[in-house]
Amino acid sequence: MRTVLIVGNWKMNKTSSEAAIFVRELSQRLPVTSTSIEFVIAPPFTALESVRHVLGPGSPIQLGAQDMFWEDHGAYTGEVSAPMLKDLGCRYVILGHSERRTLFGEQSDSIQKKIRAALKHELRPILCIGESLAQRDNGSTDDVLTKQLHESLSDLTGEQMTGVTVAYEPIWAIGTGKSATAEQAVAAHRTIRRVLAGAASPAIADCMRILYGGSVTPQNIESLLASDQIDGALIGGACLQVESFATIAKIATASRPIGV
Ligand code: PGA
Repeated sequence: MRTVLIVGNWKMNKTSSEAAIFVRELSQRLPVTSTSIEFVIAPPFTALESVRHVLGPGSPIQLGAQDMFWEDHGAYTGEVSAPMLKDLGCRYVILGHSERRTLFGEQSDSIQKKIRAALKHELRPILCIGESLAQRDNGSTDDVLTKQLHESLSDLTGEQMTGVTVAYEPIWAIGTGKSATAEQAVAAHRTIRRVLAGAASPAIADCMRILYGGSVTPQNIESLLASDQIDGALIGGACLQVESFATIAKIATASRPIGV
């Protein structure tokens, strides 16, 4: 059984001091740790240190980054590398988010290099993929997801694939308040798992987590997690308030039996 993963992507929100206050409060509100769920916060790079400091060792919340560059070090002004993130205690890194693709021109070849670099440094990549509204409307959702998976994960060994989490994030659902329905998400997740099975093997695809992202809220998390095809959520707006993050965490924890 795959462990549920709830990831809060803060995007470009919260200063380092605001982040510390937020995390202190959130830590007190999280449900008792369960082996069947993992929580990750991905603050801006500038807040990683203060969040790590507040969380301390043994926290049920793990640290993630929102992006990284593929080289370890060098003349790459403005970039941050996997060893730098590891040194700050990051365990996960979000890669290929649609905002990076659309606003910053990120292409599959760089996403692929970033995934390899993350795995090399034992950071767990969360690969974001998803279709636009036009692509959904013209019936090409499955083709788009298949292409994005092949382009980003080609050349990985089966063992490397097991270190990757995929986040299905339909672009039309991100930040719009219009989440995919559970049925739409489950259908996309089935496609993704089928493609992963073809690229690696059914056993490997079966171990890999597939998250849903796009307007996840305390109101819809339960119906999304009702399917065992949906292994967690990548959450933007609703993770910026302690109350809604804590409520989502509570509902998600209750969605899977403890210890399974
Ligand atoms: P949202 O963002 O929850 O605000 O829609 C999700 C994401 O971009 O990962």
